[in-house]
Amino acid sequence: MAIKALWAGRQLSVRPYQDGDEVAVLDLVAADRLPGQPPTTLAMLAEALAGRSPIDGGWWAELEAPVTEVICDETSTVLGAVSYATRRSDGAGFILWLHCREDQVLTEALITRAIDQLGQRTVHAFEFASALTLGLEGLPASHRPATRRALEATGFTGRDLWRYMRADLPVTGLPHAAHCTITGCQDPPGKRLEVREGGEVLAEATIGLPAAGIGVLWWIGVTPAARGRGLGLALLGSALDLLNGLGAGEAILFVDDDAPADPDPERDRTAANSLYDRASFTEVDRLHSFTRHP
Ligand SMILES: CC(C)(COP(=O)(O)OP(=O)(O)OC[C@H]1O[C@@H](n2cnc3c(N)ncnc32)[C@H](O)[C@@H]1OP(=O)(O)O)[C@@H](O)C(=O)NCCC(=O)NCCS
Repeated sequence: MAIKALWAGRQLSVRPYQDGDEVAVLDLVAADRLPGQPPTTLAMLAEALAGRSPIDGGWWAELEAPVTEVICDETSTVLGAVSYATRRSDGAGFILWLHCREDQVLTEALITRAIDQLGQRTVHAFEFASALTLGLEGLPASHRPATRRALEATGFTGRDLWRYMRADLPVTGLPHAAHCTITGCQDPPGKRLEVREGGEVLAEATIGLPAAGIGVLWWIGVTPAARGRGLGLALLGSALDLLNGLGAGEAILFVDDDAPADPDPERDRTAANSLYDRASFTEVDRLHSFTRHP
């Protein structure tokens, strides 16, 4: 279907994603790949197209089958792709992923197309992680400025939710936790590290099994009474060593530092952010999610 936008003087059209678009769409996804993210494979794309994701899978299971469309020029060259869906329980719409090499005209055309097709309903954008990435739950705002601008220009309001960080492994010079037990865990597939004292868990961390040489630190926590004594840094040192031993050459993590310390001090991530800075992690980007009301 032809759409109103012109791109470099050429008429654009939108059509459903079809077999044969894989290479072009994977190229578009690759153009937006962030440090700390594995290359997106055909299998990952197939999962996203089917409406499944290893991370945030429960939220994906609440959606109707996603619609994926591509935008082409007159020569049928695929210039961009967008995937969107509705949620069964409340009818909300979701723009799940979108790639077009951060071209302003294309991203506005794709977002407008998704809004039009989703109709009169609240639409969320970049709310969940997709199978195309390793846990990126939001739009990396600095790396995707055109998409962010296009969302805001079409009536979306953004929320700055997560800090996305990475580090090369091994990180040298970190202490290690004494008497740390390591067990396997299923969801996510990985390992759980625990430091116990007298049967009580003082500190715990969860890591994901490395994929493509990249490991994720999903969680680290120290019980409030044991904080400030070096346990968190030592457990982090052990977790990163374990990831390295399992084959990871880099580690990534996400900090949910969007909530104020008041009323829930347990959501305060001041210490966590300082811990990760101290352990040589660097911020890659901030992850934003967006909502538009009809
Ligand atoms: C983050 C957390 C694991 C740190 O554990 P900890 O045992 O208290 O940390 P350590 O004593 O090992 O301190 C290590 C570094 O963290 C930082 N840090 C620790 N407590 C801090 C605080 N209250 N304020 C600022 N920085 C702090 C410092 O950089 C410190 O290094 P330094 O001692 O050389 O200054 C702990 O505060 C916690 O469990 N917080 C709640 C859960 C959480 O936020 N998890 C992370 C989710 S992403």
